[in-house]
Amino acid sequence: MRVLLGVTGGIAAYKVALVLRRLAEDGHSVRVIPTAASLNFVGRSTWEALSGAPAPTVTFEDVPSVQHVRLGQRADIVLVAPATADFLASMARGEARDLLGNALLATSAPVVVAPAMHTEMWQNEATRANVATLKARGVHVIEPTVGRLTGPDSGPGRLPDPEDIVAALYSVASTEGVLGGTDDAGATESGAGDDASVTPGGSKDDATAGWGDLEGVRLVVSAGGTREPLDAVRFLGNRSSGHQGFAIAEAARERGADVTIVSAHVALPAGEGVRRVEVSTTADLGAAMREEAERADVVIMAAAVADFRPAQVAGHKIKKSGDGTLELSLVPTEDVLASLVQGRRDGQVIVGFAAETGDAGASVSEHGAAKARRKAADLMCVNEVGEAKGFGDRPNAVTMLDADGGRVGEVAGTKLAVAHGVLDQVVRLLHQV
Ligand code: CTP
Repeated sequence: MRVLLGVTGGIAAYKVALVLRRLAEDGHSVRVIPTAASLNFVGRSTWEALSGAPAPTVTFEDVPSVQHVRLGQRADIVLVAPATADFLASMARGEARDLLGNALLATSAPVVVAPAMHTEMWQNEATRANVATLKARGVHVIEPTVGRLTGPDSGPGRLPDPEDIVAALYSVASTEGVLGGTDDAGATESGAGDDASVTPGGSKDDATAGWGDLEGVRLVVSAGGTREPLDAVRFLGNRSSGHQGFAIAEAARERGADVTIVSAHVALPAGEGVRRVEVSTTADLGAAMREEAERADVVIMAAAVADFRPAQVAGHKIKKSGDGTLELSLVPTEDVLASLVQGRRDGQVIVGFAAETGDAGASVSEHGAAKARRKAADLMCVNEVGEAKGFGDRPNAVTMLDADGGRVGEVAGTKLAVAHGVLDQVVRLLHQV
């Protein structure tokens, strides 16, 4: 499920990092809106690293994508933790002081708040009245626990432990019908224990669909494998099925992008609303990608591109002759990704894939890091390929590297889950430029 996590300015914010980690581990897609005050306790990078997405604070960041409305509208559930006395007051008054206030007004999803403050503040008449108002409006309140507070004092007002917050959130999600499936119902009864069989795993496939974080973004992705003709009936090709590239197109479309797929010999349907351009050889693919890249914000090279082509293409079918052997002379094709990186538009994000097998000289990750540095794309997704890995409609696993070969993330699962993981990084990069 899509969880919008609001973090307000209390010292207990540090515990919420563990809540976020747990939700992400369970396969949920979390977007974090920290208030400005909360950043004094836990920095933005923590939220961005753990959620794999930008963590905006003010309403006027990224205005064109109308985040203040979109994040609230797209969330399946909203959790505010910790919720300070000041934030509860502002929420009770229906204020839109910052992005979190805006998002809460724009959401029709169930809202759960986990207050944390000193005992006197929690017991203050004003806070009691605000909490009563929120409850009357259907807001779910996770009661603070009794225990050690920030200073030497102790009493009710402490933020519950992360696993109890997660369990309470799952319980609300389950009763509100936000979680589907039998495992989810099990989780309500047993809490968020470590037993994976009762963990309400939101499949990443469903979880990340629809945050709309690529709305207004033009994305072009190549997919499949190029073929280099040898004679009138034969070609040199590869085993790429195009599943990963098509999954990226589908995921990007779900997230609101304007998507074009440049497809080389793929027997899959492009999703609704995806523009499709058919190509055959590396030269065709290069020309199509360069043309599309002229107006694209994001360019992804997921195609398996032939590195060589026959020096001569026979106009007829080559016949067996002489001793039965045939020598082919091959010449290199162009490196499409390199030419796209060279011609990059300002602010454009370019992503490459590196299909690697380890060998005596270097491991998969060493080859991947060297390729990331050589290709200088903003993101290089390295996956191990072989007989049973990488090709076709099988699960995939990629490690994502930056242009210096540094690791920025990894994602494993179905090709659609991997597509979303890659797009999470693309969104992060788009916000950096
Ligand atoms: N690529 C490309 N043009 C080529 C070869 C590859 O644009 N002629 C792109 C692929 O689409 C991919 C990335 O470059 O995004 C890496 O492809 P890969 O085949 O792993 O690397 P190569 O450059 O071919 O290097 P090598 O074969 O030596 O591993």
